[in-house]
Amino acid sequence: MTDTPAPHTGEEADAEALRERALAALLTARARTALLTDCVDDHELTAQHSPLMSPLVWDLAHIGNQEELWLLRAVGGREAMRPEIDGLYDAFEHSRASRPSLPLLAPAEARTYAADVRGRALDVLGGAPLHGGGRPLERAGFAFGMVAQHEQQHDETMLITHQLRAGEAVLGAPEPPGPAGGTLPAEVLVPGGPFTMGTSTEPWALDNERPAHRREVAAFHIDTAPVTCGAYRDFIEDGGYADPRWWAAEGWAMVREDDLTAPRFWHRDAGQWLRRRFGVTEPVRADEPVLHVSWYEADAYARWAGRRLPTEPEWEKAARHDPGSGRSLRYPWGDADPTPAHANLGQRHLRPAAAGAYPEGRSPAGAGQLIGDVWEWTSSDFLPYPGFVAFPYREYSEVFFGPGHKVLRGGSFAVDAVACRGTFRNWDLPVRRQIFSGFRTARDA
Ligand code: AVJ
Ligand code: FE
Repeated sequence: MTDTPAPHTGEEADAEALRERALAALLTARARTALLTDCVDDHELTAQHSPLMSPLVWDLAHIGNQEELWLLRAVGGREAMRPEIDGLYDAFEHSRASRPSLPLLAPAEARTYAADVRGRALDVLGGAPLHGGGRPLERAGFAFGMVAQHEQQHDETMLITHQLRAGEAVLGAPEPPGPAGGTLPAEVLVPGGPFTMGTSTEPWALDNERPAHRREVAAFHIDTAPVTCGAYRDFIEDGGYADPRWWAAEGWAMVREDDLTAPRFWHRDAGQWLRRRFGVTEPVRADEPVLHVSWYEADAYARWAGRRLPTEPEWEKAARHDPGSGRSLRYPWGDADPTPAHANLGQRHLRPAAAGAYPEGRSPAGAGQLIGDVWEWTSSDFLPYPGFVAFPYREYSEVFFGPGHKVLRGGSFAVDAVACRGTFRNWDLPVRRQIFSGFRTARDA
């Protein structure tokens, strides 16, 4: 009897669970980074596949460098391992287009550096006080969760680089599930009234998701699924890209200048629309959510359809508001972490699932596929919530606030669950179309 260990206090057990969660998130991210960087040779790692993107080897060392900054130096209080490389991997010092000409770490060096940082980060994790007290960076393991999310975000960026890369396919994955049986209504009504937007309690939510606050949202209708390739093809075939009526002025200028006629990676061959996807050319699938459209294309489609993009508060209310309890849920299906039955996340598949898939993932309002599959453009500019405080660095969110960037919600098949939740906010320039972006439409009730 006397050799029974003393039970953990509640706080110790919580800290242990957080440590496990942080460890799992870091290991999952690194396995994906390895998958994305081990499948190509050194030449491909250092090449620039598109001026929009960094060489893959830059992302690899940048992942290590951010982990060193936050986990070893900020949390662990350690000295810089290689202070001379910090500038090379500071995203604000050098544009993506200029990165191939920098004296970057070679692939073997970059791998060794990231692995060295990781070994030390796990030591820091072992000794970090993760309970409720302590410094904000350590509280609930925030810095570890932030670093795992950062690595996963760059893994998505590297997957975009893979999509832009010419040549043979090097990635593979099983097909996503098909649509569920039964007919889904095209849209659902979300009644008017206030709801809670953002979060003050989600431990690893990033600064721009905070704080929770009440928002009044008038009644609206929203699509139950993202707009499909088939529906988008109707817009194309109706002359959508040739009619300035549908386009915002800057969007129309982009269409003319870049001679746009279809989503990125589509081309027409003998009257059929084909699409290049990770090195494979295949027919466009009518029931799959459309991917690789800019905000301008999404906006133009919606206007052609007699509809509009949802605002960011509308999107979040459709995804999280539970009229039964009056609460906002962590995810459309409830508070439970995502499983493969809920959503197409984590690069388990290399494409969105057909519209109507994932019935278990639907929101109380009845909208599906809000999480995973494709990032969804909203009509909203990327702005801070009332009471926003930059944390832990201004360059994550604050410097991007303003009318230049549009908000995307919900995550794509390329987003890991650690970097995806009902409150997660992404943003990009309205001209961007190499990202895994789609959209759904809405209308006033
Ligand atoms: C939130 C996806 C817009 O990739 O530019 C990565 C995430 N911030 N490193 C980006 C990020 C710093 C960011 N996005
Ligand atoms: Fe980064």
